Amino acid sequence: MRIDVISIFPDYLSPLGLSLIGKARRQGLLDVRTHDLRAWTRDRHRTVDDTPYGGGAGMVMRPEPWGEAIDEVSGHGEHLPRIVVPGPGGVPFSQAMAAELAAEPWLVFACGRYEGIDERVYDEYGERLSTVSLGDYVLNGGEVAVLAMVEALARLVPGVIGNVASLAEESHTGGLLEYPVYTKPPVWRGRKVPDVLRSGDHGAVAAWRDQQRRERTAARRPDLLAAALPASVTTLAGVEGLALTTAVPADAGEILTLSRACWLEEGRAHDSFAIPALVEDLDTVREDLTRWHTWVLRSHGRLIGSVRARQEDGLWDIGRLMVAPDLQGRRLGRALLEHAEQSAPEQVSTYGLVTGARSVDNLRMYRRAGYRVVERSDFRGVPTVRLTKPRRR
Ligand code: ADE
Repeated sequence: MRIDVISIFPDYLSPLGLSLIGKARRQGLLDVRTHDLRAWTRDRHRTVDDTPYGGGAGMVMRPEPWGEAIDEVSGHGEHLPRIVVPGPGGVPFSQAMAAELAAEPWLVFACGRYEGIDERVYDEYGERLSTVSLGDYVLNGGEVAVLAMVEALARLVPGVIGNVASLAEESHTGGLLEYPVYTKPPVWRGRKVPDVLRSGDHGAVAAWRDQQRRERTAARRPDLLAAALPASVTTLAGVEGLALTTAVPADAGEILTLSRACWLEEGRAHDSFAIPALVEDLDTVREDLTRWHTWVLRSHGRLIGSVRARQEDGLWDIGRLMVAPDLQGRRLGRALLEHAEQSAPEQVSTYGLVTGARSVDNLRMYRRAGYRVVERSDFRGVPTVRLTKPRRR
């Protein structure tokens, strides 16, 4: 991957020669080139800034050196690099954006200083250029932001990090914060390492870590857990330790397993195992998480239910409502359905869903919840019904 950084302080970027990034450069995995913007000035004083039109404090970076620098660094090849301009007014940088940028073959970072760069430079490069902010605070210039962004994205470039497993388990992968970690000694200043981590029980360790991630995220970054637990769903029909959260990619495997368990009975009832929920693979489940709002219901860490929904004009299309077979008949499905309904955007006027025509229990539950059959159809030979319910305000 090639990364060019244009700045009036190229020395500011010298840390990019250190540690893992420095090593990746020496190994040829990363080609990082820094450039002094002043090389593209034409006057004796190598001027890059001037007073703002319309008045006001500070100086603005002139467009000409930027245009010439970006054009020369980018070349005129068929594939032009994407341009990133750090700035406090940009879209927030995130792990997802780091992954997106890491997939680019070539990036040019343009570090502004003073009051910013003349707006015409942004207009000139249009969609090729993204303005990205590190956070809601103001730095003196883009260089520190570039150091942070390059570090975050470079470690996602294949080969840069030796231990790939450490990437998969990190904070923000899957939208949850990292679990706490411990090493020797087992007791320090009277503080013990949690017993479960020394138990040798890998399943218990995984469940504990998952729970810790969720608790930490709820305590420190509740914004990441977009769906709050409805007040009625803390304990339902004797099922304790319930937590309803927005599904994250890390949930995909368990969602797939639960769907197979739940739709098996449907398959039998309809003499068909070609039902989508039974045949789809993990990649499809993961992809669907980006296309639907999906919620998962856990009891003490175990995934016991899920539902998803998405908007299609005035309709809130609800689907994949499932509850673990051993916990059915306790109103958990109804609670999930109500949660999905309550999460509908303002513009939605109707809830809709599809189920098998012979799914007697489901149909009874949907009727009780206010749904009525509006259409009978068939999907690959399986008779289906569409039900809708008007939204009450
Ligand atoms: N330049 C100045 N402030 C910045 C910020 N918050 N993020 C990125 N670049 C910046």
